[in-house]
Amino acid sequence: MERTLSIVKPDGVKKNLIGEVIRRFENAGLRIVGLKMLKMTKEQAKGFYIVHKDKPFYESLTDFMSEGPIVVMVVEGENAISKVRDIMGATNPKEAASGTIRADYATDIERNIVHGSDSPESAEYEIGYFFSSIEIVG
Ligand code: RTP
Ligand code: MG
Repeated sequence: MERTLSIVKPDGVKKNLIGEVIRRFENAGLRIVGLKMLKMTKEQAKGFYIVHKDKPFYESLTDFMSEGPIVVMVVEGENAISKVRDIMGATNPKEAASGTIRADYATDIERNIVHGSDSPESAEYEIGYFFSSIEIVG
């Protein structure tokens, strides 16, 4: 059993894709064990994406991630980290496999609908960024 952190990003919430993202995870046999909606401040977005602090897209990414409400969730299942990333598709929607969330709904490499942790270490940091232990059930 593995846990990962996924986010419906501000563009996904605006496009009414909260249910669609959750449905795809659940259809893959994954379980939602933590769930909440919130709006990050710019500083909170910078802290969440601290691994990207030296990237050229850091400012733009953290503006985007703090522009509106997001849905954050803890997703649990066998190989949850790689399963969620497979369902999401590649970062750039032009390179995302057909049938993935990003291929179907993302507009560009930044506004790509959904986030998923990329390793057990980042999953631990990212889950702890949003959830306390009593908010994770199941
Ligand atoms: P995420 O962390 O959001 O799940 O996405 P990812 O692993 O597929 O991509 P990552 O390299 O971690 O980048 C994080 C997010 O930054 C934005 N981005 N913009 N303009 C650009 O070249 C660029 N590259 C990345 C995207 O929103 C990406 O998901
Ligand atoms: Mg990433």
